[in-house]
Amino acid sequence: MRKQLTILALLAAASLPAKDIFVNTPRTTLLLKAEDNKPLHISYYGDKVTDAEEVYRAFSLWQEAYPAFGLGNDFIPALSVRHADGNMSTELVYQSDKETKEANATVYTITMKDKAYDFYVDMCYRAYDNCDVIEAWSVIRNGEKKPVTLLKYASAYLPVRQGDVWVSHEHGNWGAEAYITEEPLKPGIFEMHDLTGNKNSYENRPNMMLSLDGKPQENSGRTIGAVLCWSGNFRFTVDTQDKKTHHLVAGIDDANSQYSLAKGETFTTPALALAYSDEGKGGVSRSYHRWARLNNMVHNGNALRKTLLNSWEGVYLNVTEEGMVKMMDGVKQVGGELFVMDDGWFGDKYKRSIDNCALGDWVVDKEKLPHGIEGLLAEAKKLGIKFGIWLEPEMSNTKSELFEKHPDWVIKAPKRDLKCGRGGTQVVLDLGNPKVQDFVFSIVDDMMTKYPEIDYIKWDANMNISNHGSQYLTANNQSHLYIEYHRGFEKVLQRIRAKYPDLTIQDCASGGGRVNWGTLPYFDEFWTSDNTDALQRVYMQWGTSYFFPAIAMASHISNAPNHQTARTVPLKYRTDVAMSGRLGMEIQPKVLSDEDKEQCRKAIADYKRIRPIVQFGNLYRLQSPYEKKGVASLMYVTDMKDK
Ligand code: DGJ
Repeated sequence: MRKQLTILALLAAASLPAKDIFVNTPRTTLLLKAEDNKPLHISYYGDKVTDAEEVYRAFSLWQEAYPAFGLGNDFIPALSVRHADGNMSTELVYQSDKETKEANATVYTITMKDKAYDFYVDMCYRAYDNCDVIEAWSVIRNGEKKPVTLLKYASAYLPVRQGDVWVSHEHGNWGAEAYITEEPLKPGIFEMHDLTGNKNSYENRPNMMLSLDGKPQENSGRTIGAVLCWSGNFRFTVDTQDKKTHHLVAGIDDANSQYSLAKGETFTTPALALAYSDEGKGGVSRSYHRWARLNNMVHNGNALRKTLLNSWEGVYLNVTEEGMVKMMDGVKQVGGELFVMDDGWFGDKYKRSIDNCALGDWVVDKEKLPHGIEGLLAEAKKLGIKFGIWLEPEMSNTKSELFEKHPDWVIKAPKRDLKCGRGGTQVVLDLGNPKVQDFVFSIVDDMMTKYPEIDYIKWDANMNISNHGSQYLTANNQSHLYIEYHRGFEKVLQRIRAKYPDLTIQDCASGGGRVNWGTLPYFDEFWTSDNTDALQRVYMQWGTSYFFPAIAMASHISNAPNHQTARTVPLKYRTDVAMSGRLGMEIQPKVLSDEDKEQCRKAIADYKRIRPIVQFGNLYRLQSPYEKKGVASLMYVTDMKDK
């Protein structure tokens, strides 16, 4: 009898009846179906549901949750692998699943195994209970006897039922970031990618929205958002082959990035953060803003950001002690709380008075600042404001003491001449090299150890990876460069954040080159664009607000005529536009008339009054500048809807 019972129990364990896995946020559900030895399926993503049968009766997407190449899936796969024995096909079937509770979320981990190989993929979904965002990623594990080559390794796949589905995304370039484009999905392939290597947000950005009910609307229509939390090369593909489904695959761009996964090694892909709302693009944006503030801007997401003056457009590289002190005094007079000294303050053998030298030599130029940073900190203290400083830690110039000492630290292929960036001399340090990681960490660490009163760092990055080749990686692993760069970058940022959780750090990359949710969890804000023309900023900030909250969006009042466009718009207009993000100034206070100063003082005072609502509130985009009515209008509302 006992033996019979044991056999029955074993049989029951061996053939799990199909199991519905509800990945739920407060208002949305991603529904999965798991069955022993069968592929895991996604059957639904949308408004919250509780009855799976009802979903199946109404309709079901019924697609494999992580489609792999080689056995029947005839659209762009999420995973493509060359197994140790050369087999190019993969057949993943469900093995087990578990739920892990976190402070504000539940993580569902569903383990799949290749039917014939010791090769595993965990599909993971983190469903938040304080916002309607689900993060999806895969964890790929090689249990085979030899290395397996990952040819394509997307973070996640999402099927979308065909209909009048439109895609909204941002595109641009330096000085013109985040312009919105909207288009219907047609048969064929819609694709968006970035290949710059280290700063992925100028041209295309790693995020998109899909409007399921025709032309995208601000306040209505079922809308899905997808955001890749990665700061390197990415690829979003929507493959519309058949007449039933749009197949969305998003993740790290596999181009020139084959990854050799050693025996026993695990590869974790970056999260694809999904949001669904039936309140149109506005609903999806508000979900991302909430997700960012409550869960993703881990260190300072709940602290009000200070109003500041940044020295760049005021003096460019012509930093002097007298000039810095005058600017500090100027920002204090109009009610600002922080002064940031931008580029131009450093260099010993090579002095940073021109932009072709000294990156990497992070010592004060004593001719410019005879009393050093201590002197400026003392002045700031006297005035009762905080002090911040500019750094470009990942970079060097061939004209620098750093490069002379460590030419092997830069990204460069053997036998190739260096292609240099800004000033004809800029190069990128190889963050895949642990020694370089230590060096980059030490730049911030030394600065903060010597001057603990520093309140803010502007972290700049002005060059792409333009010399593919790592002097650190082996010849066989050169195709790991992009990935190791970002792993190294993240390690450095983690070390900085562990030691300096309260330091405010701005993420800048020649303006908005790094506005992505791969880097932002370690930063407090980003520099939206080097273009500070208020009229063009209306468009750029509008686009940026699709996926990023106002608290993170640095927006500065600048000079007239504007330095980039030579346009003159009234100061009132410039201050209003700057107030819709984290307000700051990029202006030389000494050029302001008394009347202008009074207007700035008033704007800053007004901003301080509404700052908690702008920085912590929910955004409603009321009138789009894209409708060309000569007006753009935004509203910020508290959670309680009382202000
Ligand atoms: C590029 C940044 O976007 C600017 O704001 C400024 O910091 C310069 N670099 C300094 O070189």
